[in-house]
Amino acid sequence: MHRSTRPLIPLALALSLCVTGCADHENAPLAETSASPVEVPVAPSSERDRMFNPAAADRVDQFSYANFDEIAVQHINLDLTLDFEARTLAGTVILDLDRRAPDANRLVLDTDDLTITAIEASGPDGRFGATSYILGEDDPMLGTKLEIDLPENASQVRITYETSPGAAGLQWLTPAQTAGGKTPFVYSQAQAIHARSMVPLQDTPGIRITYDARIQVAGANHDDILVLMGAAQDEDGVRDGDFSFSMPQPIPPYLLAIAAGDIQFRAINDHIGVYAEDYIVDAATEEFGETPRMEEIAEKFYGEYRWGRYDMIVLPPSFPFGGMENPRLSFLTPTLVAGDRSLTNVVAHELAHSWSGNLVTNATWRDAWLNEGFTSYVENRIMEALYGDERARMERALDRQSLIATVEGAPRPALTRLKLPNDMATTDDAFSLVAYIKGMFFIKFLEDRFGRDAFDPFLEKYFDQFAFKAVVTEDFLHFLDMELRQKYPNAVSEEELAIWVFGEGMPATLEDPQSDKFNNVSITQNAWLEGDFNAGDIPTSDWTTHEWLHFIRTLPDGIGTDKMTNLDAAFDLSTSKNAEIAFAWYMKSIVEDYEPAFAPMGEFLRSVGRGKFIYPLYGALAKSESRREFAADVYADARDGYHPIAQRRIDIYFDGTDQ
Ligand code: BES
Ligand code: ZN
Repeated sequence: MHRSTRPLIPLALALSLCVTGCADHENAPLAETSASPVEVPVAPSSERDRMFNPAAADRVDQFSYANFDEIAVQHINLDLTLDFEARTLAGTVILDLDRRAPDANRLVLDTDDLTITAIEASGPDGRFGATSYILGEDDPMLGTKLEIDLPENASQVRITYETSPGAAGLQWLTPAQTAGGKTPFVYSQAQAIHARSMVPLQDTPGIRITYDARIQVAGANHDDILVLMGAAQDEDGVRDGDFSFSMPQPIPPYLLAIAAGDIQFRAINDHIGVYAEDYIVDAATEEFGETPRMEEIAEKFYGEYRWGRYDMIVLPPSFPFGGMENPRLSFLTPTLVAGDRSLTNVVAHELAHSWSGNLVTNATWRDAWLNEGFTSYVENRIMEALYGDERARMERALDRQSLIATVEGAPRPALTRLKLPNDMATTDDAFSLVAYIKGMFFIKFLEDRFGRDAFDPFLEKYFDQFAFKAVVTEDFLHFLDMELRQKYPNAVSEEELAIWVFGEGMPATLEDPQSDKFNNVSITQNAWLEGDFNAGDIPTSDWTTHEWLHFIRTLPDGIGTDKMTNLDAAFDLSTSKNAEIAFAWYMKSIVEDYEPAFAPMGEFLRSVGRGKFIYPLYGALAKSESRREFAADVYADARDGYHPIAQRRIDIYFDGTDQ
């Protein structure tokens, strides 16, 4: 039974209290309960029930058609031909079924843009026979519902199908779009709901599947091509156009991953290595040289790494993310290869997902913060252990600043809650900085209140307890309540939890990380702004990317062309090779309408497809009267090189619908 030292405040009241009450909420001292704790009333309120005891409604995934509570797919066997010319994956998938509700005789799957030519179900003799099915109407967001009639006792379904060349989850690159220039390339991006454009399956993080796959490359000319999946691969490594994989650990379908092209490999140690095109493989191996230490640190805090190998693949620059945590094989943007290991927090982040996300998985996208917030927290702990407290605090300070901007610009206040509303327009709404940064600061808040000695083992236990399971926010709160709050009842109040998880905006108990280095940058910046000296005399020689970002982002609005020119002349910011610095500078240049930055900005937009950079740039340019045409011209040029996911996001800026 739950105990609390104070009378409970109903959730609705607690939330309204935030406006006045939480700003000066005292930091409760850490205190362990005595052997005979004082019994206090426990409110059986519906709010409390909802907070610590998930209801069935909390596990509904609004982004999937699948009826997995009745029949769950538990293993898939893929036998596909990868055809660079046709831009398709074609062949069969066999789905193994767990028939949870014996009466249910219809399997409901998610598909998107697939051409299905046959569906068979296994009969009593184990042989496949044709069965009837209905392919529903196409929904622009969810794709197409596929309902398959199942004979009694059928435990397998075999589907013959082919993907579309425009599949949302695959980017097909011509040889000319690769660095090598000779061999085509393809890679997948299934998160959040694009696995259904590659395979007909139950595309919800509420289920898990193991898989086997055989991928054959079509045509005779495939000596250069290596196919990889986020799975164990056949060891021979021979490029004979025929590749086999098996994934023994069960994964949510959004972690299904494939990449193929003229890819080289370099080992970092016996179970960590880097795949990339030849031009960058050595630089990337050097850049990511700390990965073994990152893994050791994460294992020390949170328990064993459970996935066998940890490899990374550096994708072409059009990859729309910084990184994607595909199991055993993180996908990374080449923009991380800055030459000074300054952007490797993204590696720490994707590696951290091996615990938060891949091992313990959000059951619905409303709970995305359970994946991304925990991961951002673990990422920051890794960075702290590796590079020290100052760097970790600088990263949190930059994050806090970005979070404020996100919260202020939120399209709907409900989207600033950690537990997101059940009527999000798209899964993109789940992945704002609210999930990442507000989520991280919530875990950080808990860490501060309970202390690391209690909180680190708690998290390790959480990852173990829910390993290979799907959880909702309320499962975590329940576990927190049982494992920590009962032991330390004064550490965190119920209303503080409610404000963090169900409240909107910035909680008053959110950390404001202080950095001496940033304070020094600010002092210098002020002095320079007041006109005392030339930008070239700003002592920047020991600045890292972080200090540059702090400097650029905190420049006041309207500093004017002279100051911008002065900075640019001293530091070549318009042509910076560091993508983060270049991006911050371009955003500033749009605000200042600083002409000399626009040509290099156009170059940047043509060569990089990472959403973190290009969505805000196109967004700001599209809103600017004088630069909208420039942006439309650049986009017309660059669009073909972007991933379909990025194309869909940016089309909206230019198709007139948002005007
Ligand atoms: N899982 C995400 C990427 C993602 C999110 C893909 C939502 C599709 C839908 C990945 O782990 C991630 O968060 N990447 C960040 C890195 C980071 C350090 C915040 C990115 O891409 O910038
Ligand atoms: Zn992530």
